[in-house]
Amino acid sequence: MTAEVSDALLNALKSAQSAAALTGAGISAESGIETFRGENGLWNRFKPEELANVDAFLRNPDLVWAWYAYRKRVIHQSGPNAAHRALVELEALIPDWTTITQNVDDLHRRAGSRNVAELHGNITRNYCYECGARCDDDTLPEENNAPHCSKCGGLVRPDVVWFGELLPADAWEKAEDAARRADVFFSIGTSAVVYPAASLPLIAKRHGAYVVEVNMDATPLTGLADETIIGAAGEILPVIVDKFREMKAGRG
Ligand code: APR
Repeated sequence: MTAEVSDALLNALKSAQSAAALTGAGISAESGIETFRGENGLWNRFKPEELANVDAFLRNPDLVWAWYAYRKRVIHQSGPNAAHRALVELEALIPDWTTITQNVDDLHRRAGSRNVAELHGNITRNYCYECGARCDDDTLPEENNAPHCSKCGGLVRPDVVWFGELLPADAWEKAEDAARRADVFFSIGTSAVVYPAASLPLIAKRHGAYVVEVNMDATPLTGLADETIIGAAGEILPVIVDKFREMKAGRG
């Protein structure tokens, strides 16, 4: 399938000084990492309230740690896909580019994206729930039980944002600033239902951005975006980059 890239999008990219992308679990799906809400989604098999929140962690730290250890193993065995690499190329082609991600899988950084705002943290980092000391993976014993901090003996938790927790202020500020100044704003592989991340495309649109959604399914953003391209990010984004590159070279 060759995705159709609209002239409107190509013209918006051609004149863009600033652009950004908000990504969700869908951009990592082609890397073999499950999404949350699809038919095989993580939330279909597990209950977020039993795993992705502080109460669940304090109630059953070993269960929550084992779930994240499973997700770390899946991520460690996977790698960036063509969609992640397409965003690295867009970062090189547009003067001011920000990759904003809801994902904790570290795949944008592994793909080579440089200016990244991680709204929901990063599963490769951990910290002590008691004293806050960083306890990254390579300093922890390989085991499924929740490890304990070498400094205070407290429980070690993944450095991810759980339901009910605040987003890292610096990441949110970077993301909101990028949305406000974007001439083009992509929403990629996200169901656009979790706030405040889902407000970013709307902020961008309110500040004059051309908002493009690339997603396998329609979402609440679909009626509000300037353009929605339904399909796999790993197929669509490389076509957008190729067409944009051709146009910049005066061949398009
Ligand atoms: N290409 C593009 N889109 C895809 C692909 C693909 N290959 N595969 C799936 N999708 C789309 C699905 O259609 C769906 O709309 O990706 C979206 C994934 O949605 P969710 O599973 O809800 O994931 P996400 O939007 O990232 O969830 C947001 O919710 O549970 C919290 O913290 C968690 O960061 C997560 C947040």
